[in-house]
Amino acid sequence: MTRAERIAEICASNAAIEGPLLPILHAVQRAFGCVDAEAERVIAQALNLSRAEVHGVVSFYHDFTAEPDPRPLVQICRAEACQARGVEALVSAAEAAAGDRVRLGTVYCLGLCSAGPSARVGDRVHARLDEAALVELVRSA
Ligand code: FES
Repeated sequence: MTRAERIAEICASNAAIEGPLLPILHAVQRAFGCVDAEAERVIAQALNLSRAEVHGVVSFYHDFTAEPDPRPLVQICRAEACQARGVEALVSAAEAAAGDRVRLGTVYCLGLCSAGPSARVGDRVHARLDEAALVELVRSA
């Protein structure tokens, strides 16, 4: 199966759900580590959209990258509840710890609002982070 055929298969498996574009983009990002121009073309064709429409969504969300990024990803929640619990004061320390080795991402709510600040690495969500805990999380990613 070619890459384009696999992307078309992902599109077909999500075609029946309402608003299939974002689930498809997430699935393609997970499968290939990116949503590149070829993927945008195949998805646009499958959903009867223009490539510009698909690209507009891809470029709007930070979750999607045009090429694979092999660095580990630490996603820090910067939504309101985590902001209220002090996440913004931790970000610069996380950035310093990340350097060029770790990619930091922003998410808006990980479902642990009362236990923030929260961050996700892979499938695991970490809560009640202070600066030392977040820096350690970044260093160990
Ligand atoms: S606002 Fe951060 S986990 Fe909900």
